[in-house]
Amino acid sequence: MNPHALKKAGLGLLHRVAETGRTPLTLLVDGQPVQALAGDTVLTAILQHQAALRHNEFSGQPRAGFCLMGACQDCWVRTAQGQRLRACSTLVSPGLSVLTQAEESPL
Ligand code: FES
Repeated sequence: MNPHALKKAGLGLLHRVAETGRTPLTLLVDGQPVQALAGDTVLTAILQHQAALRHNEFSGQPRAGFCLMGACQDCWVRTAQGQRLRACSTLVSPGLSVLTQAEESPL
C-alpha cells in the first residue's frame, strides 16, 4: 500500500511484529499522544501511527526517512523548544514532544 492509501485507511507505515514486551511510554507528535515502547526510535514510533513522517517542503510529497541510520538528514523533527533531532537516531523518552513539519521561514 502506498503512503496515500495508508493515510486514507488510517494505518501506519510500520507494524510491530516482535519485541512487544518492552516498557510502553507516550510521546507527543504534533501535539497528539503517540504510544511507543522503550527503545523505539522517534521515527519508528511515528511511522507505526502514520503513513509518513512529514511532507517535503518543496514538493509536498510524503517522506518517511531514507537511510534510517543518521546519515541522510531526511528525518529531521524538532522539539517544541526548537531543537532539531534526527528521528531515526533519537530514542523515544517519556514526555518527549516533537513537531514534524519544518518551522515557518522568518522572512
Ligand atoms: S533517515 Fe536518514 S538521517 Fe534519519
